[in-house]
Amino acid sequence: MKKMLGLGMVVLCLLGAQWSLAQQKTVKDGVFTQAQVDAGKPVYDSVCRTCHDQRFYRDTLRSWNNQPLLWLWESVMGTMPADNPGSLMFQEYTDVIAYILAEQGFPAGEEALDPDNGMDEIHIVQP
Ligand code: HEC
Repeated sequence: MKKMLGLGMVVLCLLGAQWSLAQQKTVKDGVFTQAQVDAGKPVYDSVCRTCHDQRFYRDTLRSWNNQPLLWLWESVMGTMPADNPGSLMFQEYTDVIAYILAEQGFPAGEEALDPDNGMDEIHIVQP
């Protein structure tokens, strides 16, 4: 019985460690570059502005709280712009996400946002 308990503790600790690691990186940590923001703005203005204002993204980010940023990127890529889903290039979707995050007050940093590299480990937090 004692042995079982010990094993249980180890498993719990491992789970705990994994959980806290997964929680570590968020959109507050400078996960996109200013260059991406600058590239995202004109795309956003021509493709997204007609249907959404920044208030909409504030609410969206709230409802996505704690979810991986990659999931939002995938959702946007699969469904937006609503009148022509998937019509942008991967790069443009990524830049638009960077622009939206910047508009919500999250800081730019050194590392570029990249859907193929670590975006599943960046968690959304409320603006
Ligand atoms: C023709 C109108 C239209 C355009 C253009 C458009 N959207 Fe949307 N968008 C919608 C509608 C409708 C919804 C779903 C209903 C809602 O939540 O208001 C939506 C939902 C979303 C969501 C929430 C998705 C979710 O799963 O929570 C995001 C984020 C979003 N749009 C981003 C964008 C971005 C970025 C662009 C530009 C690339 C864009 N939209 C262009 C109409 C549009």
